[in-house]
Amino acid sequence: MSTATLHIDITKTAHSRLPGLDINNLPFGKVFSDHMFIAEYADGQWSKSRIVPFGNLELSPASSMMHYGQAIFEGMKAYRSDNGDVLLFRPLENQKRLNRSALRMAMPEVPEEVFMEGLVELLKLDQNWVPAGDGRSLYIRPFLIATDDYIGVKPSDTYMFLIITTPVGNYYDHPLKVKVEHTFFRAVEGGVGYVKASGNYGRSLYPTSLAKKDGYDQLIWTDAREHKFVEESGTMNLMFVINNTLITPQLRDTILAGITRESVLAIARDWNVNVEERKISVDEISDAFDNGTLQEAFGTGTAATIAHISEIGYNGRNLVLPVLTPESLSKRISKEMDNIRRKRTDDIHNWVYRVC
Ligand code: COI
Repeated sequence: MSTATLHIDITKTAHSRLPGLDINNLPFGKVFSDHMFIAEYADGQWSKSRIVPFGNLELSPASSMMHYGQAIFEGMKAYRSDNGDVLLFRPLENQKRLNRSALRMAMPEVPEEVFMEGLVELLKLDQNWVPAGDGRSLYIRPFLIATDDYIGVKPSDTYMFLIITTPVGNYYDHPLKVKVEHTFFRAVEGGVGYVKASGNYGRSLYPTSLAKKDGYDQLIWTDAREHKFVEESGTMNLMFVINNTLITPQLRDTILAGITRESVLAIARDWNVNVEERKISVDEISDAFDNGTLQEAFGTGTAATIAHISEIGYNGRNLVLPVLTPESLSKRISKEMDNIRRKRTDDIHNWVYRVC
């Protein structure tokens, strides 16, 4: 990690909202912690780093982010260990990915010290917002937006980097029923599918709402050309266990390099599970279902962690997957991930970062 020290002005809230927090009712992303971090970019420099009470921003209605979508984000979580520590999971991977997104969207990189020191100071200040208990965490949303008040189409000269946090429980409270999408697509070669551009999520809402009307929770996105190969599910990477082999679409410019994805694959490899990163067609999945070798399907992501898929809608059929047991690979990996994130087991990959 960089050793540079960032100057951060801190203005504390006079009225913490923490006493009003209902720890047993944490809807995803609706309640925000007391403070937020902000840094500004102008004249080629990052400055004005500050932590202020969570609140509305004042922006010009001409801000380029509002018109042309120069906006990117990250998702990460802070966990409470059994001894009360606040822990992050692979935070530098998020900083690096944010900068890959920034490059693709013609935005400036956020330096490591701005990202990490802003994040750590914010978490120290709002540490009591990190909920204890399995399934609970503080979801962290770093994001970068273009702020020029200019309606012409060009990369903005000014930007704002912010971090807000929200205490959360499980993203999904039930196994998912997903539908294979073959009209719309999420990403195309040469596009921005591999980065966390805000527009990737906005464009997914209409197709997803149609699937929801048919009783599905989410979509399985397929390739834009032939709708033949699976890519992601909803906002998650996608994995299958077929004949005891863990199979996931290989990374390409239409697929986000998920940090949870990579961690799941690493744990599987540590356990000598056969792992294949390759193209996987919808027909291969439905054939595996028909011949009884499709054992598990699940999505991986920071918000959802590991989300089990119970049914796949494809070609007018609903493929109902076998019920999971505690021995199912995804169940065991999910438990191991949780143990690592809360330091209940050896962190052999050095993934956990202690904040305080
Ligand atoms: C995450 O898993 O952090 C995501 O980015 C998904 C989010 C859009 C809820």
